[in-house]
Amino acid sequence: MNPADIASWISDAQKAFSAANDLETLKVARLAHTGDKAPISLASRALGSLAPDEKASVGKLIGDAKAEIAKALAVATEKLEAERDAKVLLEEVVDITLPVSRRHRGGLHPITIIKNEISDFFIEQGYAVEEGPELESGWLNFDALNIPADHPARTMQDTFFIEPIESGVVLRTQTSPVQIRSMLTQEPPIYMICPGRTFRADELDATHSPVFHQVEGLVIDKGITMAHLKGTLDNFARHMFGPDVVTRLRPSFFPFTEPSAEVDIFFNGRWIEWGGCGMVNPRVLTTCGIDTDIYTGFAFGMGLERTLMVRHGITDMHDIVEGDLRFTRQFGVGL
Ligand code: FA5
Ligand code: MG
Repeated sequence: MNPADIASWISDAQKAFSAANDLETLKVARLAHTGDKAPISLASRALGSLAPDEKASVGKLIGDAKAEIAKALAVATEKLEAERDAKVLLEEVVDITLPVSRRHRGGLHPITIIKNEISDFFIEQGYAVEEGPELESGWLNFDALNIPADHPARTMQDTFFIEPIESGVVLRTQTSPVQIRSMLTQEPPIYMICPGRTFRADELDATHSPVFHQVEGLVIDKGITMAHLKGTLDNFARHMFGPDVVTRLRPSFFPFTEPSAEVDIFFNGRWIEWGGCGMVNPRVLTTCGIDTDIYTGFAFGMGLERTLMVRHGITDMHDIVEGDLRFTRQFGVGL
C-alpha cells in the first residue's frame, strides 16, 4: 500500500470515468473503482491492521484518494446526465409546422338534428316528448285508432307484420299509436309530441322510404278547436321553414280524426304534402276513456324526411337514407 499504488488507483478511476460515454458504462466503472471489491475499498478496510503511526498517514492518503475519485465520478456523471437530457429534448421536440392527420369527431344524422330541433320547439311550449315501441300491437296501431279490419292499410301491401301473424304485432306504420298510449295512461290536459321511426312496405324511391320518421302531435284539453290546430301548425311550419312559408289545409280523411286534413307546403313552385292532421275523432276519445262532453283535441303527424327535404331542397330520399358522409357532413355535427 505505497503512495504510488494509491496514485495509480486514482488515475485508473479517472481514466475509466472519463472514458465512459453513457451512464450505463459509467455505472460499471463506478462499481469497479468505488465498489466493495475496488482496490481503494479493500485498502480502506485493511487500515485497521496497520500500526498506529502508519494508520494516520496512510489513512490520510486513502481519504484524499477517495475524495479525488468521488470528484472524478461527479464530473463524469454531470457531463453524461447533461448529454442524456439534451438528447431527450431533441428526440421529443414537436414540429408544430408538420401537417396533422385530421379526424372527424363524428356527428348526428340530419334526421336526428331535425328531431331534436322539433322537440325543443314543442318543449318550449310546454309539450311532453313521448316515446313508443317500434314493434306495436295491431290494436294500438289500427283498432284503437278507429281503423277497421277491412281498411286497406291493414293488408300486407302497406304493413310489415311480425310472425307469427296471430300475434297481431306489427312494425308501427305511423306514430299515431303513441297518441293512444298517452290517452290511456294520462288524464287530460295532454300536450305531447312523439318523434319516432315508422315502417311501411313502400319501395325506396325519390320521395319514399320503407323506414322513415314521423313526428306525432296530440293536444287534449277543454275548448280545443280547429283554430288552435291551424295556429299550432302555422307556427311549427314557420319554425321549420322560415317566416315566409305558405301552408294550406286540404280536406282529407283519417279514421282517427274528424274533420281531417292534409297539411301542404308551397315549395319549389308546387304544393307538397307535409303531413296529416285533424280534430281527434270522438270515437277514439271514447275508446281511451276520455269524456267527449268535456274535452276535445287535435292531432297531427308529419314526415321528418319530408321536412328535411323541403327545408334543404333535397330532391332524392336516397341521400337521406344511404348514410354517405359527403351528404351528412353538410349539416354540421349538431352535437
Ligand atoms: C299518417 O301517417 C297519419 N298518422 C298522420 C296523422 C296523424 C293524421 C295525426 C291525423 C292525425 P300519412 O300516411 O299521410 O298519415 O303519413 C304522414 C306523413 O308521413 C306523410 O305526409 C309523409 O310526410 C310521411 N310519409 C308517409 N309515408 C312515407 C314514406 N314511405 N317515406 C317517407 N315519408 C313518408
Ligand atoms: Mg298522407
